[in-house]
Amino acid sequence: AEPLRVGVAGLGTVGASVLRLLDRNAASLAARCGRPVVVTAVSARDRTRDRGVDITRYEWFDDPVALARAPGVDCVVELMGGSDGPAKAVVEAALAAGRPVVTANKALLARHGAALARLAEERGASIGFEAAVAGGIPIVKALRETLAGNAVHRVSGILNGTCNYILSRMELEGLSFDAVLADAQKLGYAEADPTFDVGGFDTAHKLAILTSLAFGTEIDADAIHVEGISAITPLDLKMADDLGYRIKLLGVAERTPTGIEQRVHPTMTPKSWPIAQVMGVTNAVNVMAEPVGELTLVGPGAGGDATASSVLADLVDVARGLQVSPFGQRAETLEAAERLPMQRH
Ligand code: NAP
Ligand code: HSE
Repeated sequence: AEPLRVGVAGLGTVGASVLRLLDRNAASLAARCGRPVVVTAVSARDRTRDRGVDITRYEWFDDPVALARAPGVDCVVELMGGSDGPAKAVVEAALAAGRPVVTANKALLARHGAALARLAEERGASIGFEAAVAGGIPIVKALRETLAGNAVHRVSGILNGTCNYILSRMELEGLSFDAVLADAQKLGYAEADPTFDVGGFDTAHKLAILTSLAFGTEIDADAIHVEGISAITPLDLKMADDLGYRIKLLGVAERTPTGIEQRVHPTMTPKSWPIAQVMGVTNAVNVMAEPVGELTLVGPGAGGDATASSVLADLVDVARGLQVSPFGQRAETLEAAERLPMQRH
């Protein structure tokens, strides 16, 4: 069978893991897809940087947009990051050429997801973004495919690995915010600009994606009330602990009588609740829906290999020829998200 020829734009933490995983699992992927999945082209800023993978086997592109249009590429994987600039140009170029895109870029989707979904539908292409929400947890497919027969009432959870890692180590090891953030950066968990993590914006980007999938609304990150964890001190954690609570950065989207309320903020959670026991880089997503009831998915929320696992899930869909509307229904049928003020509970 004809191989699926993949171009990878961005060879950092996630991109390098994707190359390694595609190599390591080549035989099982070929068997599962009915055809080989092979990388033919790559792009990053610095061709000479040691990435722990041999990139000399692939065609190199200084310009990632040229990679997206290259004749030897069937599918484009965007792992550069950023809501505008080159990442957006790469995704648009690939979709305009009718090529499927796989991306982990929640900032891009939160800002331009609706327009990109429309472009994909016009050109008969797909956008896979399992890796954009909660790292290795398969929540995008769960909401879009597995739970498609449900009416969702609420989706919530710990959606940022860096913040949960910082809060956990500050509490358990008494380390300073800055020291743990530096470790999260070394481990490849944090965004290129960690303000997105600690300011709550990355959680908001992911929540915006989940809201669209769960409630059939057009993605709109500006509709979300956002507070991050930058102001949380060791004393806050200690006082919460003394009272029997843990502070967690939660994203919550729920149907209220006046519309879908979306909010991101540090939350006092009783230590006996399962969500309070989720520690380190682990994420958890809780869904309340009818008729299924309540379910929670827990797993690694950041890091190269966990995220690469989700990128490969989308590549397998492409190789198998599966295609669904990016947000689970045609973009023109998504309702406008309401901009509700946050209600204090
Ligand atoms: P990263 O380590 O900073 O890697 C970014 C890559 O993009 C680098 O290889 C960089 O090239 C390349 N790049 C940046 N600008 C470029 C340009 N103009 N032209 C060509 N290449 C360019 O980032 P990452 O952690 O892998 O994250 C990648 C994406 O995945 C982001 O959207 C992020 O939000 C998302 N994500 C990350 C994680 C995680 O745990 N890290 C998890 C889920 C989703 P150089 O290497 O040459 O500098
Ligand atoms: N910076 C993100 C996090 C990466 O820490 O959760 C995963 O999306």
